[in-house]
Amino acid sequence: MTSGVDIIQITDLHIHSDPAKRVHGRDTVATLQQVVDAIGRDETTPAIVLATGDLTDNAKPAAYDRLRPLLAALDLPVYVIPGNHDLVPAMEERLVGGAIHHVSSKAAGAWTLAFLDTTIPHQTEGHLDDERLEALDREIKEADTPHVMVVMHHQPVPIGSPLDVCGLMNAEALYDVMDRHAAVKGLLWGHIHHTHDSSRNGVRRLGTPSTCAQFLNKAGIDATFTDEPPAYRRLRLNDDGTIETDVVWVD
Ligand SMILES: [Fe+2]
Repeated sequence: MTSGVDIIQITDLHIHSDPAKRVHGRDTVATLQQVVDAIGRDETTPAIVLATGDLTDNAKPAAYDRLRPLLAALDLPVYVIPGNHDLVPAMEERLVGGAIHHVSSKAAGAWTLAFLDTTIPHQTEGHLDDERLEALDREIKEADTPHVMVVMHHQPVPIGSPLDVCGLMNAEALYDVMDRHAAVKGLLWGHIHHTHDSSRNGVRRLGTPSTCAQFLNKAGIDATFTDEPPAYRRLRLNDDGTIETDVVWVD
């Protein structure tokens, strides 16, 4: 077997500050608890967990307070980034600390995970300004591992869904940076509440379903959800720069 490092991605947790509130028709604490329990039973031995945005549904301090013990129960280092439903100041104040980290990069085996904030406060769509693009360029250049995976919230590719109007609106600027560095082998995101797996210029591009409800991946904004269960993604980042991955559906 190729050697490498196992990691897990969870995304779009949508924890609400009000315990009575149902989000997308789901009790999102209960669905996240199911996912946390399933990760505890997973036969892989993940080194870290990535939580790729929409950690909360309404960005209230109380929502981050409700989320914190659920992530702590993973008993693994957790690396968080914001989604469009988050606000960074509340996230940093009420969630980050202990085993929960908000940083710009993290080395894992032969890989560097480069974390990218694609959010604009109070906007649904994503955008990368020059400062973020330059910081990413620097992060990749300074990585002391042979391989890099960029980790963010918004999708940089049309997926044929109503969410295409609120993905990463300047994905070409991101690709311009990535194309300068042969080390970049992976690009990972959330936001779409759906699976995606494609490649571009030698980079594996992966989108991951939510820990709560999944969107119907076709036009028609009213018919929005499928009856698919909560999910998480497993990734094995191999030392040779390849990625083995699957999505685990938690019934
Ligand atoms: Fe989102």
